[in-house]
Amino acid sequence: MTRIRLPVLIDVHVHLREPGLTHKEDFLSGTQAALAGGLTIVLDMPNTSPPTTTPEALQAKARLADMKAVSDVGFFVGASTEAGNGYIACAPHTAGLKVYVNETFGPLRIESLRALMHVFGKWPGPGPIAVHAEGVALAACLALAQLYDQRLHVCHVARAADIQLIARAKARGARVTCEVTPHHLFLTQEDLPRLGSLGEMRPRLGTPADRDVLWQHLDIIDCFATDHAPHTMEEKRSASPPPGVPGLETMLPLLLTAAREGRLTIDQIVERLHHNPARIFGIPLPPETWTEVDLDARYTIGDDPLRTRCGWTPFAGMPVTGRVTQVSLRGRIVFQDGEILAQPGTGRVLFNATEETASPRG
Ligand code: DOR
Ligand code: ZN
Ligand code: ZN
Repeated sequence: MTRIRLPVLIDVHVHLREPGLTHKEDFLSGTQAALAGGLTIVLDMPNTSPPTTTPEALQAKARLADMKAVSDVGFFVGASTEAGNGYIACAPHTAGLKVYVNETFGPLRIESLRALMHVFGKWPGPGPIAVHAEGVALAACLALAQLYDQRLHVCHVARAADIQLIARAKARGARVTCEVTPHHLFLTQEDLPRLGSLGEMRPRLGTPADRDVLWQHLDIIDCFATDHAPHTMEEKRSASPPPGVPGLETMLPLLLTAAREGRLTIDQIVERLHHNPARIFGIPLPPETWTEVDLDARYTIGDDPLRTRCGWTPFAGMPVTGRVTQVSLRGRIVFQDGEILAQPGTGRVLFNATEETASPRG
């Protein structure tokens, strides 16, 4: 048994589904899943119902999280053509601005060049613009970030060409960072016959060659992030399954297993789940907060009960070595040997998102 302590681990891309979609997940079940997965801070995405596109929606969401969450939670605000410029007033209280350029789940979508120019021209920061953009849309976002002098964060990079484009942008000095999900690192299209609609997400699973090129560009990947996107089994088995897979409880065991196999180091994991997320999104790190893992514990994913309300994982059946044994948040043990010990509300809301924001301008 080899136990080590990792510092505050952060997942910068999570869909906690509250408000409006709490049959899939809510702030309590989602942050319990985060702690069980060794993650003490998560950043929540804006494609809820209503979407997080105005100061009122952000504040209402933040107050729910403040009462229910057992991990710390920060929020992205979403760019929207329908909600006017409401998202801009949210800027000081958010991790960043999320812009959905390509197909996704939910109503938030910014497609026209005119709308993108508006968003890139108006966003005041300090958080980056985080984009769901692939292929030509990614190239457009890289160009817009340069033209409007914005910091760009590319979500869930999944294709060889996309990571190669980001590598080139970085080499040219662009202010761009990116994240890659465990499903794009550990699954490919070859798993689809087995997974069926449980392997459906956006971006779609790549080819084995895409996956290999992502691993070859580990130095270009700033963050690992789950894109935890729970949908119920019933929804996934329906005639029109929504895209998305859960991931909070499986990311760290999968990465620790890869570390054991010599594919990356523990330091490289810590850089991508701790140092880089904190720096990119300006996340305040809670004191006396750590995750203890047993590097030798072997088990099969899916054998343990899951905390996420959706109750399934696309990684079921995969053998892993590395288990989260204990988690401390601000000096209190909040998870130990499979048990959540934290009361709802133990987690804090980041960036003062529960506070009033000045009315939107212009
Ligand atoms: O697979 C996905 N699921 N991709 C997205 O962009 C959205 C997400 C969700 O919210 O379900
Ligand atoms: Zn996305
Ligand atoms: Zn997402």
